[in-house]
Amino acid sequence: MHKKRVFSGVQPTGNLHLGNYLGAIKNFVELQNKFECVYCIVDLHAITNRQDPKELKSNVLETVASFVASGLNSEKNIIFNQASVAAHSELAWIFNCVARIGWMNRMTQFKEKAGANKENASVGLMVYPNLMAADILLYKATHVPVGEDQKQHLELTRDIAKKFNNDFNCDNYFPIVEPLISKEIPRVMSLRDGKKKMSKSEDSDMSRINLKDDKDLIEQKIKKAKTDNDSIPSEVNGLKNRDEAINLISIYASINNIKLEQVFKEFGGKNFSTFKSKLSESIIEKICPIGDEMKKLLKDSKYLHDILKKGSKNAGLIAKINLKEIYEIIGLTKFS
Ligand code: TYM
Repeated sequence: MHKKRVFSGVQPTGNLHLGNYLGAIKNFVELQNKFECVYCIVDLHAITNRQDPKELKSNVLETVASFVASGLNSEKNIIFNQASVAAHSELAWIFNCVARIGWMNRMTQFKEKAGANKENASVGLMVYPNLMAADILLYKATHVPVGEDQKQHLELTRDIAKKFNNDFNCDNYFPIVEPLISKEIPRVMSLRDGKKKMSKSEDSDMSRINLKDDKDLIEQKIKKAKTDNDSIPSEVNGLKNRDEAINLISIYASINNIKLEQVFKEFGGKNFSTFKSKLSESIIEKICPIGDEMKKLLKDSKYLHDILKKGSKNAGLIAKINLKEIYEIIGLTKFS
């Protein structure tokens, strides 16, 4: 049996939004009271697309600030950045040699991100899921809280763990990770198009609620959010083929920690304008204090650096022990 340990990561690519919060960070906070947790700012993943060096540094700090402002305790959890622990890259190389090209070719996120010009995407973008598997398995994590968009990458992590355990005759060495995906809202969708996920890279800022948006902007974005002409239904069947309505109702349920049924009870038969003003209120109540706290924390970069230094040291200690075991299993020797 493996000791229960949570691992998850967020890319420091700016524009942290409600999808990151409801899909991941909110769950990180809940899990800190139940498990030993390791939360990583995955800067090596970020450079699979071109990043401005200055912005990358400040986005790392902004991501730490978002963790702390959302309620993650930096004493209790390991919070660190991936570039501080070289073992991530070392294990990723090993997994490049375990994973099969056919597995990579099936990754839908690569296809989406590379777009039509696949030949021009970085090799790093293609083998990105192997680095993600390395992040998780380096700590022998058993549980990984993520949004649904990461599910396929976690399936690949499970395949890599199984193949490694099998190839090197070390039954059960790597755990087979369990994804933890929010039931209320596995995927927060764009406010402009209920078929697209809410995303940092979407051109229109009106498509997402950023953690640093102020009250007026949130009100404006929710007011303009796309809906349909029908009213709020009284039961789940009334949401069939209504992507935008499902999205807004699910956001309301998730942000208030209530079940969908409760939303139907409260708003069934009412029109969207009544619902939208309540939705804005709920988002403002939850998100604005986080944004305000982030802005405050960002003025104290020493405090944020200290969190990263301490977290990186602690992550590095676990990583060193595990990488040594992994090298031994494979037959690799470090003479220096
Ligand atoms: P990233 O940085 O794109 O997103 C961070 C987390 O936010 C979730 N998320 C969403 N959840 C619901 N609805 C949305 N619209 C939405 N957008 C983003 C993501 O699912 C994620 O949980 N590959 C990962 C980072 C990563 C990682 C890891 C995660 C690297 N190594 C190891 C877990 C374990 C990513 O790009 O997340």
